[in-house]
Amino acid sequence: MAGGAILSGPGGRSSQYNRGRITFSVLLACFVGACTGLVFGYDIGIAGGVISYPDFQRRFFPQVLEAHADKDAFCKYNDPLLQLFVSVLFLAGIVGAFLGSFTAKQWGRRPTMMLGGLCFLIGAVLMAPAVHVAMLIIGRVVMGLGVGICVMCGPLFLSELAPYHLRGAFNTQFQLFITIGILVAQCINYGNQNYEWGWRLNLGLAGLPAALLMVGAALVPETPAHLVEVGREEQGRQVLRRIRGAEDVEVELQDIKDAAVAARSTKVNPWRAIFSRKFTPQLVTIVALQVFNQLDGINSIMFYAPQLFDAMGSGRREALMTHVIIGAVNVATTFVAVFTVDSLGRTFWMVEASAHMMACEVIMGVLIALKMDPVTGAIPKDITVGLIVVVCVFIAGHAWGWGPMPWLVCSEVQPMHTRAAGTALATIVNFILTFIIGQCFLSMLCSMRYGVFFFFAGWLAFMGVYTYFLVPETKGVPIEEIEYKFRNHWAWGKLMAKHDAAQEAKVVDDIADDLAAARGTSSCKVDVAKKGKPEM
Ligand code: BGC
Repeated sequence: MAGGAILSGPGGRSSQYNRGRITFSVLLACFVGACTGLVFGYDIGIAGGVISYPDFQRRFFPQVLEAHADKDAFCKYNDPLLQLFVSVLFLAGIVGAFLGSFTAKQWGRRPTMMLGGLCFLIGAVLMAPAVHVAMLIIGRVVMGLGVGICVMCGPLFLSELAPYHLRGAFNTQFQLFITIGILVAQCINYGNQNYEWGWRLNLGLAGLPAALLMVGAALVPETPAHLVEVGREEQGRQVLRRIRGAEDVEVELQDIKDAAVAARSTKVNPWRAIFSRKFTPQLVTIVALQVFNQLDGINSIMFYAPQLFDAMGSGRREALMTHVIIGAVNVATTFVAVFTVDSLGRTFWMVEASAHMMACEVIMGVLIALKMDPVTGAIPKDITVGLIVVVCVFIAGHAWGWGPMPWLVCSEVQPMHTRAAGTALATIVNFILTFIIGQCFLSMLCSMRYGVFFFFAGWLAFMGVYTYFLVPETKGVPIEEIEYKFRNHWAWGKLMAKHDAAQEAKVVDDIADDLAAARGTSSCKVDVAKKGKPEM
């Protein structure tokens, strides 16, 4: 196999990397890459607030207003069209991520981010003046394409540019910017709630982060990995020198070149390669972590907290305020991940988050089961305050665990050849789950009631155990060497060894067949196995 870097394993050439210094150039690139999170976050934050604006409901979803009067507390927002408005973006995002995997590989990461920003901008321009529900949904679909492209490309761009020993801190900027986008949107939702046309402004303002991303992407360099992969080695060297602030970057460049040789020697299309047996450990890890990113229940809160607290009798104003508080806690606690991910590692935070978020889900379920009036939905004031505190502690778990770590690990575990397709797959899995939760949570709440919190608690228990045993720790390992972590893992290593043995046996069989054909005999398998490859 090409790629001595991969075989050299942790501590191979990485100890000889020139760490250089943190240059302005790499910081700017990090900021721009993280802006892909900003557009994603703005969208998540804005949707839940906008759908609670009376003027918005009157124009597009009058059935929700009418239904309020006679539905019980758990069911009053259970409207399929309303839920479709929230979640259709993620269906479009699946297509966007798939598209982005090709543009990121062919054109590069930078133009792909610009394309994502452009789609997001067009979506905002279509939605702000919407006069009927179709226009609204079309705008959201175009915006969704942009979100998909951005989300598949941002973490990839960040991971490829970051110095390996700080890759966690760089990559978690993506999640940090998601949380900032959510918070900004929540503040805007809160500030504009009294204006009839407030929702138009909220939707239109989405164009700002998109424009920021487009302009920023025009200013930053392409990643050295992509440049080397498409044969522009000298340019890759220059970029590496610029972002590392050092002249001698040859060791790191050599690792990238080895990975590129390995990537080029693979004739199989990256999408087929991901689903081949060889990549099973990475594939399973990506799918599992992205499913977990959603099944911790975060978006039941992010999308629908105003509806939940409104239903509990807090009043729309207080409910929107609660959303802002939750958003601020989300931003603040994400810094814990930024500052500790490269020392404490990825798996530590995922396991910790599973335990503490599970406890929060159980407490929320019990409080709602015991204290909520099932008809009016009202909850005593002091219990509501208690619930808000528990929700904030819950959010912290996502912010430093199940939020950033899946995005980080999924962008790290792929070899160069499948990296763009692999991060697109991560986005697709994430969006499918987000779509399902966006579409189903209010219906689940309506039918399962407080049981829905125990449902998420069950998942969290499983997630913690899975991560502890099956997710290899990737902190401090150069991105081109991570495959080695899987090879050394107690379970994945066995699977990979089995696959390698099967591959080797196949090669021996093929050679034997060739030899047999050349000699005109029926089989030479024994000869080959004993003597190795014959001279032909
Ligand atoms: C998730 C989003 C979620 C956000 C909340 C991200 O990691 O992918 O779906 O809304 O975190 O901060």
